[in-house]
Amino acid sequence: MLGAGRYVGAFFAGVKFLCLYPWIRRKKTNRFAFGVRALNDELDYDCPLIPSRQLTEIFPGIEAETIRTGHVFPWEGSSISAYETLAIGAIIQHLKPKRVFEIGTSVGVTACNLALNLPEDGELYTLDLPPAPEHGGAIETKFEVTVSDRKMIYGDRTVRRFLGAPIEERIHQLYGDSATFDYSEHEGQCDVVFVDGSHAYEYVEADTNTAYRLVKPGGWVIWHDYNDGFFWPDVRKYLKSIATERKIMRVEGTMFAISQG
Ligand SMILES: C[S@@+](CC[C@H](N)C(=O)[O-])C[C@H]1O[C@@H](n2cnc3c(N)ncnc32)[C@H](O)[C@@H]1O
Repeated sequence: MLGAGRYVGAFFAGVKFLCLYPWIRRKKTNRFAFGVRALNDELDYDCPLIPSRQLTEIFPGIEAETIRTGHVFPWEGSSISAYETLAIGAIIQHLKPKRVFEIGTSVGVTACNLALNLPEDGELYTLDLPPAPEHGGAIETKFEVTVSDRKMIYGDRTVRRFLGAPIEERIHQLYGDSATFDYSEHEGQCDVVFVDGSHAYEYVEADTNTAYRLVKPGGWVIWHDYNDGFFWPDVRKYLKSIATERKIMRVEGTMFAISQG
């Protein structure tokens, strides 16, 4: 009976928040959606093609790493979660990469946290579209982007967290469309590539192909926003489509997918 009650409750919550409230209670609907997303991140979602693994299974010994973090305040919506910040910091500490490439800088929170964990001779390259023209005007992209991408693309990305900070000297900001950028000097040179740009299918495909081209043999590709909820379905769809040729894992407790090049 408890089981049946949960389904009935879920049905009424669905009607209320998906059909009724979006029209009359926008704030509550947003809170519900964020709640669903947060819950979803917690859930142990798993699919046989992309199995979930603890970081300690992927990188034995990683639990001993000390992580550096900073530039995380104030909170802003386009970056990764707090646990993901720790996880990616630990990965960088563990792998000691000389060159890391990030696709999608936004305001640079993760760029700072990647750079803070690099070894002394490590460098971070981070790519984003050029900032929006000051007096309006479009930013051209090769492929169509999603609605949520557009929000970030046209958001204020000029206030990057590393500007003027000591960590800035380790970070190289690059500008361009990730689908048409000239990556030649990075091909086969990167130890880690973090894919966190547009969430549209064609971009996930193009950025993934780029990432595998950029990593050295044995280097790692990490995607953000891999999940099985309502958000960014094209990340999941594309990664599943290549998961029979590439060994991809999901990192437990995160929306990271990870694969060795
Ligand atoms: C989710 S945000 C990145 C967040 C950042 N990695 C972090 O964790 O702090 C996605 C970024 O990708 C950028 N982006 C979207 N489409 C792009 C494209 N075609 N080429 C380059 N960057 C793009 C957006 O401008 C946005 O800043």
